[in-house]
Amino acid sequence: MNLIQSNQDYLQQYKNSVEDPEKFWDEVARDFVWKKKWNKVLEWDFAKPSVKWFVGGKLNITENCLDRHLKERGDQRAIIWEPSDPKDAPKSITYKELHEQVCKVANMLKNLGVKKGDRVCIYMPMIPELAYAVLACARIGAVHSVVFAGFSSGSLVDRITDSGCSAVLTTDGASRGGKRIDLKKIVDDALPKCPTVKSVVVFDCIHSKPPMQEGRDYWWHDVVNSAPSVCPAEEMDSEDLLFILYTSGSTGKPKGMVHTCGGYMVYINYTFRTAFQYKEGEVFWCTADLGWITGHSYILYGPLSAGATTVIFEGIPSWPDMGRFWQAIERHKVNIFYTAPTAIRSLQLAPLSFVEKCDLSSLRVLGSVGEPINEEAWHWYDENIGKKNCPIIDTWWQTETGGFMITPIADVTKLKPAHATLPLPGVQPAVMDENGKELTDNGVEGRLTIKFPWPSMARTIYGDHQRFRDTYFSTFPGKYFTGDGCKRDDEGYYRITGRVDDIIIVSGHNMGTAEVESAIDEHPSVVETAVVGYPHDIKGQGIYAFVICHQKPDNDEGLRGEIRETVAKIIGPIAKPDKIQFVSGLPKTRSGKIMRRILRKVAEGELSNMGDTSTLTDPAVVEEIVKGKL
Ligand code: WT7
Repeated sequence: MNLIQSNQDYLQQYKNSVEDPEKFWDEVARDFVWKKKWNKVLEWDFAKPSVKWFVGGKLNITENCLDRHLKERGDQRAIIWEPSDPKDAPKSITYKELHEQVCKVANMLKNLGVKKGDRVCIYMPMIPELAYAVLACARIGAVHSVVFAGFSSGSLVDRITDSGCSAVLTTDGASRGGKRIDLKKIVDDALPKCPTVKSVVVFDCIHSKPPMQEGRDYWWHDVVNSAPSVCPAEEMDSEDLLFILYTSGSTGKPKGMVHTCGGYMVYINYTFRTAFQYKEGEVFWCTADLGWITGHSYILYGPLSAGATTVIFEGIPSWPDMGRFWQAIERHKVNIFYTAPTAIRSLQLAPLSFVEKCDLSSLRVLGSVGEPINEEAWHWYDENIGKKNCPIIDTWWQTETGGFMITPIADVTKLKPAHATLPLPGVQPAVMDENGKELTDNGVEGRLTIKFPWPSMARTIYGDHQRFRDTYFSTFPGKYFTGDGCKRDDEGYYRITGRVDDIIIVSGHNMGTAEVESAIDEHPSVVETAVVGYPHDIKGQGIYAFVICHQKPDNDEGLRGEIRETVAKIIGPIAKPDKIQFVSGLPKTRSGKIMRRILRKVAEGELSNMGDTSTLTDPAVVEEIVKGKL
């Protein structure tokens, strides 16, 4: 199908996609390799909810990402790997080489007894072997569950046991920003609590010689190198599971979002090519980690299915200096650069000379993801990185949506700073008021829902369909509720205003306040905690914790440090609270519910008007909290 070329095209295709979605997606889906064509494009019922795309279709996503490119572009680079230390040499992996490596890892998994439908946990740093591992699972129909390598052993236990993984793929360790992380040690700490895990395969990344458990642990080089380099792609049903990816929820327990094969493949490829207007031969760099949905969809599956060259970056933007991104763009002549507002805001504080020293003339399109991008960061990105010559594609989407939902299309959509702009074809947003009424006019503000299925939507929460229904389909019956608030302006442009639930977005990472609270509560001195988000110059939102202790601490700073370490150990360093205020009580209603509205105001520094506090059991506690604000 032809890509959208102009605004008129967009309007026409959008209209087609709404008037006859099945015809629209049927046409898009024809551009892929299917082992068997579908009988029906879509079956759905949001009341259950049940959604099936390309019903009866059979495929393997890796044939679309690898095999189909071999003839035309076998020697083209599929992956450019930029190592953590810029003194190390980058690596290029052609489509032919990638195909071979994926087949080897796939055969290795088979040799270990991993079969179609089995779950495999992947806990690795951003090295090419991580990509091989993910694609190898897809090759044999095993369900991958990638866990971000910054998570602690406790988080790993939760994720491995929830989905019952039988194998773990990891490395001895990782080096990130000059620091060393012993990943195998974290895995070893987790595994005694993970009875389903039969085998662990360890890639020797930093040569740290960790202990290996006989009969359970294998070195990657021993079991992969000897494996055959041809492995037929398993035939998958369109609705078979492709992967599980955990995201935070409003309770302490992370949700294993389930994505399936056919619809995901079609939608991710379509949105990648459409939003960025990807052109044959371009180098694409998404700076996210593969441990998040952004990495799954737009480092691997989107670019590879489109035959693009995708950059995998092992490092961080600030090491060895604040010019790392710009140097790598110059080095690899990157054409499309896709990053997060939090990174832009931190790099914007560094001297401009870091940018000016680099030749960024290869850039054609810029992207942003993960949280609303503020106007100041938008303009800095536009002027200094894009030189006012590259459209900024502000993509709004979620782990649950699988791919872009509301986003400009490069060179097609008229941009508006800090606006995600317009829905892609196939996406039907509805703005709802608090009483559940749809606001059909423009110039409105409310809650963002989607009223029609799109191919890459999550199908369920692994092992808990009821929670899937309760979380996403019950607030506004018949509609998918995103959890975000939005404004739709007079032109019909969307601006995402942020979460309206108990999820905070810290440096673009989705975090449940309940999850952080229960981690803080693990500290022996802590009785109870309430966590809220507050505006943070660089991270977008920071974590503010109100903590009640058994006794008034003698050393506030000391205890704060301990609490932060507790959280880092239980969830991971990304969840460490920025501010910890010790309080003697929390504002609670008579039914015992914490009034977070009040705590949010305090954390935001809006101290003048606390609104109605008459329903609180002890209104005096509010005064104390206001006085002690950090
Ligand atoms: C939440 C989803 C999308 C992949 C990375 C995060 C926020 C995401 C934007 C954007 C405003 C955004 C929303 C959303 N968000 N992109 N362009 N503008 N807000 O995935 O961890 O599932 O988080 O991130 O609040 O609901 P996630």
